[in-house]
Amino acid sequence: MISGRVISRRTHIKNKIVLPLSILLPCILFGAAAQERIFNEPYEQSVDLEYLMYAADFANEEIVYYSTRPKPSFDRIETFASLIAEIGNINRYNAPKKDYLDWTTTQVDLGKQLAAAAKAKDLEKVKTLHQQLLNNCNACHDKYLGH
Ligand code: HEC
Repeated sequence: MISGRVISRRTHIKNKIVLPLSILLPCILFGAAAQERIFNEPYEQSVDLEYLMYAADFANEEIVYYSTRPKPSFDRIETFASLIAEIGNINRYNAPKKDYLDWTTTQVDLGKQLAAAAKAKDLEKVKTLHQQLLNNCNACHDKYLGH
């Protein structure tokens, strides 16, 4: 009885700790190595900027729609604001000049702030930040669209 219990405790430790660790550790180490290798690759955009811009425009329309409904959908606003932020991040790689880079950086900042305001369900802040975001789109377009 007693020895049986000792064995089952050891088996327990082996099953619950040693086995999972022996499987998880190599995965974590390999995963970290793989992530570093991918992260170190130089960035290359795989589609034309035009597609990203139409996606930003689409996300913008969704934010208008979901923030002006009688019952706003903050989850969706948060998602589409985050998408716009990341499009701004990608667009940083296209910057031919400092002012272009600044507008993309502002897009990232405002997109993230907008997502945070949506998460906090603060509709007034959502509307203010969304307007600032649009002004920033237009500022860059005024100089770079069609050039
Ligand atoms: C830092 C500069 C920059 C910012 C910021 C920017 N864009 Fe653009 N946008 C461009 C450029 C450059 C083009 C032209 C791309 C092309 O045709 O290759 C463009 C094109 C577009 C187009 C296509 C318009 C057309 O007539 O061809 C749309 C729609 C668009 N952007 C929406 C947006 C929206 C919405 C935002 C903000 C959320 C935004 N853009 C922010 C630089 C910017």
